[in-house]
Amino acid sequence: MTSSSQHSPGEPLVPNVKQALTRTERELLLQIIPDRIPAHVAIIMDGNGRWARRQGFIDRIRGHEAGSQSVREAVGTASELGMKTLTLYAFSTENWQRPAAEIKALMLLLEKFLREKIGELNENNVRLIASGRISDLGPKVVRVLNHAIDATSANTGLTLNLALSYSWRAELTDAARRIAAEARNGTLDPDAITEADISARMYHAELDDPDLLIRTSGEMRISNFLLWQIAYTEIYVTPVLWPDFRRRHFYEAALDYQKRERRFGKETRR
Ligand code: IPE
Ligand code: IPE
Ligand code: MG
Repeated sequence: MTSSSQHSPGEPLVPNVKQALTRTERELLLQIIPDRIPAHVAIIMDGNGRWARRQGFIDRIRGHEAGSQSVREAVGTASELGMKTLTLYAFSTENWQRPAAEIKALMLLLEKFLREKIGELNENNVRLIASGRISDLGPKVVRVLNHAIDATSANTGLTLNLALSYSWRAELTDAARRIAAEARNGTLDPDAITEADISARMYHAELDDPDLLIRTSGEMRISNFLLWQIAYTEIYVTPVLWPDFRRRHFYEAALDYQKRERRFGKETRR
């Protein structure tokens, strides 16, 4: 990719934006430096319930429905910006404690998304993968999910990683079980275990760690998301509720990220 200085004013920095942009979006996009776009963005998509309440809906599910449109837009924006991976926290292991009707509605929405968006994912060259205790989702959702994963597996653009029945403690527990089993089999020497060995046993070890973690709706917490992988991730919390999170907000997050000085524990450079 080229640096921003080589672009003439008025020319979009990222040429493959298909959408007609508003003036604000265009102005923000023009400030984004292509070679400083975060390669892997992870999003804690929070605030659907609050959005529903603020809109006057009694049913929180209306917020989840509205949030599906934000997912579509975030996937489109991430792929237009040339990001490599977008990890979306869609359902946590703790979310199983929600009322049965809400869980059912969330599973139906997930199924609907997976059934209806395969064409769009393929058009955008997006490859779908999933992280979490996937079998918890039940055979029907698993079947639809696996179909979507297979149908998009040859795509070479953005990798969309859906965190489903995911929590980091569950991921760590699953990794610990694998490590213990390998130690018992004699295929892994307990005294020689390295950080790389642990990383290799996470759900999708092939993914680079996130560069940027976005949390919508203002909560200053991680809620059991990717704790191993976000050791040096830049964090961006926005008060915008997930159903209101639009392309412009994603651009703002990317712009905030490109101002950060990532140090990884080394000396300051400015
Ligand atoms: C995020 O929105 C969606 C899921 C956790 C599935 P919430 O449902 O948590 O919305 P708030 O936080 O109650 O507003
Ligand atoms: C985090 O949101 C999980 C997802 C976005 C899927 P929650 O709403 O479940 O998190 P808490 O309860 O506010 O920490
Ligand atoms: Mg929440």
